[in-house]
Amino acid sequence: MTPTGPVVETRVNDPVTIVIFGASGDLTHRKLIPALYISYAQNLLPDRFTIVGFARRDYDDEIFRSMMADSIREFSRLPTDDETIGRFVQHLHYHKGDISSEEAYTELKGKFEDTETYPENRLFYLSIIPDLFETAVRLLKESGLVLNPGDAAWSRVVIEKPFGRDLESAMGLNAALLKYLDESQIYRIDHYLGKETVQNILSFRFANAIFEPVFNRSYVDHIQITAAETVGMEKGRGGYYDEYGAVRDMVTNHLLQLLCLVTMEAPGDLAAESIRNEKVKVLNAMKLDIRKDISDAVCRGQYSAGVNAEGRKTPGYLEEDRIDPESDTECFVAMRMQINNWRWAGVPILLRTGKRMARKTTEVAVQFKVPPLQLFQQVECEDDVCDITRIKPNTLIFRIQPDEGIFLKVGTKRPGMRFVVEDVDMDFSYSGKWSKSLPEAYERLLLDTLHGDSTLFTRSDEVEAEWKVVQPILQNVDQLTPFPYPPGEWGVHEADWLFHGVEGHWRNQ
Ligand code: BG6
Repeated sequence: MTPTGPVVETRVNDPVTIVIFGASGDLTHRKLIPALYISYAQNLLPDRFTIVGFARRDYDDEIFRSMMADSIREFSRLPTDDETIGRFVQHLHYHKGDISSEEAYTELKGKFEDTETYPENRLFYLSIIPDLFETAVRLLKESGLVLNPGDAAWSRVVIEKPFGRDLESAMGLNAALLKYLDESQIYRIDHYLGKETVQNILSFRFANAIFEPVFNRSYVDHIQITAAETVGMEKGRGGYYDEYGAVRDMVTNHLLQLLCLVTMEAPGDLAAESIRNEKVKVLNAMKLDIRKDISDAVCRGQYSAGVNAEGRKTPGYLEEDRIDPESDTECFVAMRMQINNWRWAGVPILLRTGKRMARKTTEVAVQFKVPPLQLFQQVECEDDVCDITRIKPNTLIFRIQPDEGIFLKVGTKRPGMRFVVEDVDMDFSYSGKWSKSLPEAYERLLLDTLHGDSTLFTRSDEVEAEWKVVQPILQNVDQLTPFPYPPGEWGVHEADWLFHGVEGHWRNQ
């Protein structure tokens, strides 16, 4: 059989103007423009579209086009050709202005009177510092650049993360945005939801009848989620990161979203609201597993100086560029949680994420209980030298990245005279099944915003429910002094303790 691509895309028909706020920033270069280029090259963008880069730098259309052409060549997921790049960049314009000044919006409005060049359906992508979200949305509305839902043309606004710093500020930001926009116009982006492998968690669970009946407290021993990165604070990342830290940067959005998808109930249908309703329900049931105090459930860390995963000498977190040497911001966090509902009550849920760890890997592992009767002996063999161990539980692993796939560990009889069982993998890997590379999250999410599909974006109550889960950490952070951890390894050793009473340990692989 000839391998086929994993997705069947639909073309956007509505003519549109896309305005990228913060167009001189890293996200525009590395992700947004290359993603739009790929959609264009695949003929998924409408015949009439214009992309406006809005920023303070002193560029003009020509400079902006040439810079974006370079970014496409460098960061495109697929091979590029200069002819297609040349045609694509003709759709790009640059608008120089201060995002917090009214004048810049009035000037933009003036340009938009030429509706041939600037179609009236408008997507505003706010890739700017969070402090400016509210101002930008207010000025968009006051200048008349954003229309009301139900008007002849649509207006949508994409908000990048972080959405607030804590529950209070997220609620404040939601209230402020909802003064100017309708919820249906707001697209709070969490790029993890655009990943093919993350969406596949839902399909896997609800398109197959065999796993769902065992996805509950009777069969599952525990769930663990790891998002490990090898990068540290390179490329000026420290300025933003030290203000936020791992809990705000990774847990409150990406990790909790992964956990929602693995543990939510089946929605009645695939409508955006049905899926989001189920996610909010499960989020509201999530709690940190605090017995006596917060340190029972949470462990924070900062990497020390040492040798990273590639074997290079690297500074400690506190010696990094743009990091306060006295900072107590965590760049590693592990936590133990519970989900207080009928399906998951009592099942330990363990999450961890960190920078400068041993490997770049993101995975969700659902570990099942060991069989009730130990009929067999389990062996673990290397080069035919075998050790007898306790029987191993089955584990289902959703590998989000890299080596994307789904793996099920099962015990099987080892060939030979003895009746012993060995652990083997039943593997599905994307690269083995489909020859095309997986779409980048931003390709999918940008197309969804143009189609007006908000399924993979976070609703206001969902974002608030996420902050509620981590709020006890933010409020008691002074009781959680970060532990040092060596670079190039799996984070803070003290986090092993979170497995107390659980059949298992962190999957360091
Ligand atoms: C971002 C975080 O949202 O996700 C970064 O701000 C992190 O700190 C990145 O490095 C990880 O994304 P990915 O897709 O590489 O796992």
